[in-house]
Amino acid sequence: MSSTVVSGITELVTCDGSTPDGLGILRDAAVVVEDGHVAWLGPASGAPMADHQVDVGGRAVLPGFVDSHSHLVFAGDRGDEFAARMAGTPYDGGGIGVSVAATRAATDDELRSLVAARVAEMRAQGTTTIEIKSGYGLTVEDESRALRIAREFTPETTFLGAHVVPREYAEDRSTYVELVTGPMLEAAAPHARWVDVFCEPHSAHAFTEDEARTVLVAGRAAGLELRVHGNQLGHGPGVLLAVDLGAASVDHCTYLSDADVDALAGAADTTVATLLPGVEFSTRSPYPDAAALLRAGVSIALATDCNPGTCYSSSMPFVIALAVREMGLTPGEAVLAATTGSAKSLRRNDIGRIVVGARADLTVLDAPSHVHLSYRAGVPIARALDLDVDEA
Ligand code: NIG
Ligand code: FE
Repeated sequence: MSSTVVSGITELVTCDGSTPDGLGILRDAAVVVEDGHVAWLGPASGAPMADHQVDVGGRAVLPGFVDSHSHLVFAGDRGDEFAARMAGTPYDGGGIGVSVAATRAATDDELRSLVAARVAEMRAQGTTTIEIKSGYGLTVEDESRALRIAREFTPETTFLGAHVVPREYAEDRSTYVELVTGPMLEAAAPHARWVDVFCEPHSAHAFTEDEARTVLVAGRAAGLELRVHGNQLGHGPGVLLAVDLGAASVDHCTYLSDADVDALAGAADTTVATLLPGVEFSTRSPYPDAAALLRAGVSIALATDCNPGTCYSSSMPFVIALAVREMGLTPGEAVLAATTGSAKSLRRNDIGRIVVGARADLTVLDAPSHVHLSYRAGVPIARALDLDVDEA
C-alpha cells in the first residue's frame, strides 16, 4: 500500500469539532493519505515519511464539499423560464414538465454524458461527494433508468418519482401515487439509497401532506431512507412531516414557522435542515435566517440543488458565499454546513471532516484561508485535490 504526504498547507480546516468554532484549524500542517484514507495529520514539521509527496504550495485545504442535494439527470434547457422569472413570473413547479419531456426523449448515452459533465463541473469547484435524485422520468422505466445512470457516479442516489404529478395523471393523482409507491418504487429501489418527495401545498403539481406521507412510508418499507423537499414555496407541512417520520433531511426550509424551528431543534440528532440558497437566488425568494437556526440548535447543511428549474448552479463556493452574505452565517459556519453538516444529512461520518480514518477527500483553495471562499465570491479558487497528479 503506498502513502502520500500532502504538504505546503498553510491552513488545514479539519472540521473535526476540536475547537470552539468547530473548524479545528491547524496551521502549517501536513496530511498523510494511505489507500484513499487519512492515515495521519498534524504539524508539517512532524510529518512521517511517505512514498509520494504532493506540495500544495502554501494554500488552504479543507474537507471536500458534500453536495447533498442535486438533480443532475436531466436533458433540455429552461433558460427562458429563468428569464421570465427575473421579469416577474413566479416559480410554481410547472416547468418541471418541460424537463420531463426532454429527459424522456434523451438516450442513455446522452443522459450519461450530461451527468458526467455536471459531476466534473462540481469536482472542479471542490465537491467530492454528490447526492443525485431522479425525478425527470416519472415512468417506471424512466425513473429506474435515471437512478441506474446516477449510480454510475455516486452511491448517494435518491428516488424522486414523487417530484410532480405528471401531466397525464393530473386528473387522477391517486393512481399516480399508487404507481410511485408500487411498480415504480420496486423498479427504483435496487438503484437508490434514499426516497424523497416534493411536499408543497402551494403548487398544484406537487404532493399534499397525506400523499407525501404515503410515498415516504412506502419507500421506507422498501428499504430506503427518507429525505423531503419541504417549505419551499410557502409555509407548509413538509418540515413537521420530515421530523415526524425521522427523515435524515428536510430541504429548502425557505419558509419556517416557530413550530417548525422548534421541531427541527428537537430533532437535531436525526433530521438536518438543508438550506439551498442558490434556489432563493434563482427564484428571487426570501432567504431563511440560517444564523437563527443555528442559535435555536438546529442542525443545518448547505447544498446546491443543482437542477434546471430553481438553481442551475453546480457551485458549492457560490452557495457558501450566499449563505454568508444573505443568511447570516460566518464564513466558518458556512464551511461547516457544506462539509460536516451535509455529511450528517447523508448519515455519513467518513466524509465532511479531515480526521484519521476518514476518506481523503480534500479540497484545496488558491488562497491562504477558508474565509476567501466567501470573500472572493465568484472567483474559481476551490478544486478537489487529485492525489494521482503532482500538484504545483
Ligand atoms: O428542488 N422543488 C422541486 N424540485 C426542484 C426544482 C425542479 C425543477 O424546477 O426542475 C427543487 O427546487
Ligand atoms: Fe431539489
